[in-house]
Amino acid sequence: MTILVTGGAGYIGSHTCVELLVSGYDIIVVDNLSNSKRESINRIQEVTGKEFRFYQEDILDIDALSLIFLENKIDAVIHFAGLKAVGESVSPSLWHYYNNIAGTVRLCEVMKNYNVKKLVFSSSATVYGIPDSLPISEEYPLGATHPYGRTKQMIEEILRDLYQSDYEWSVALLRYFNPIGAHKSGRMGEDPAGIPNNLLLYISQVALGHLDELKVYGNDYPTKDGTGVRDYVHVADLAIANRKALEKVFDSKGVDAYNLGTGTGYSVLEMISAFEKVSGRKIPYRMVGRRPDDRGICYANPAKAKYELGWSARRGLEEMCQDSWRWQLNNPKGYSEMTKVLLD
Ligand code: NAD
Ligand code: WQD
Repeated sequence: MTILVTGGAGYIGSHTCVELLVSGYDIIVVDNLSNSKRESINRIQEVTGKEFRFYQEDILDIDALSLIFLENKIDAVIHFAGLKAVGESVSPSLWHYYNNIAGTVRLCEVMKNYNVKKLVFSSSATVYGIPDSLPISEEYPLGATHPYGRTKQMIEEILRDLYQSDYEWSVALLRYFNPIGAHKSGRMGEDPAGIPNNLLLYISQVALGHLDELKVYGNDYPTKDGTGVRDYVHVADLAIANRKALEKVFDSKGVDAYNLGTGTGYSVLEMISAFEKVSGRKIPYRMVGRRPDDRGICYANPAKAKYELGWSARRGLEEMCQDSWRWQLNNPKGYSEMTKVLLD
């Protein structure tokens, strides 16, 4: 089986490529490297010892996409390619809509032309907006509160309509909660372009001494210590979930959404102490005001993924922080450190 992985040089995509390769799949990666580096591809090959084709192309380029399908017999697609920075989506949000939505529509057009109708799509827990109750289940009403989340919500609707137009499609919508962690080897991890987006990247920057302190956004939420609570899930567990969702789309038709989280929420202060424990570093922090539109508490009911995909998160908070720290410590400049092999 050959799987096209769009955005496969990125954080979750690269870890999923490793999972697919070690599970016996052949893969092809397409990525425009707008938020990743070519070195990430080298690291996938390094940790698996396996080769695969990489196309540095934009999924918005229909001709380039068509050539990939022409040159390779593709059986299914796992679609990670997209812009994910919530903050950036608020300013030039048209680009987010264009890249994420038009990119997905063009991908599906080419898939249809080559009769490839099995798709695993990276959606997000942000489609739920601010939930009325917790934990969040898949049948909860959707209501994204920012352009980035709305791109995911609209793409989910588009894929449901696509199925209604052609019952041959099989689509899994994976709603990731808060991915953190890194490959056990310390050779792969999250390395976004520009300033970090999320909590653990900021904590790591403080631990490395690149930032003096962490700003804690709000300590007046209705949580055990007043700080925001999220459902952090190891990226290696998400890679396994993608493989299991792939198996599902090969076995059945239709469109199904799955919450991918541990079902347990941790506060910002709990994350700080967990990271201090594994790193042995003090994380100075300062309480500041809430971020606009920030949700106070968000964690998943992961029962549907367990029942229908046979998936549940296996890695706990300590392992997530240990693997993140190992990656950061060994690669303080992320993938800018070339593979030793290339430097010798
Ligand atoms: P990432 O930015 O590390 O990976 C996305 C990859 O897609 C990058 O390598 C980027 O270069 C590529 N890309 C973007 N637009 C492209 C285009 N037009 N053509 C080709 N390649 C393109 O992000 P990630 O954390 O690995 O997330 C993967 C997917 O999961 C994204 O769709 C994201 O929205 C979604 N997601 C991420 C999180 C998270 O917190 N990391 C949470 C929920 C959902
Ligand atoms: C987690 C908690 C903050 C940073 C995430 C991703 C985003 C998008 C949606 C794709 C919150 C607090 C954070 C800091 C802090 N992913 N925090 N100080 O809000 O769930 O958004 O999901 O779909 O890319 O970021 O996660 O990591 O931004 O914040 O106090 O410097 O940490 O207030 O309570 P969130 P986060």
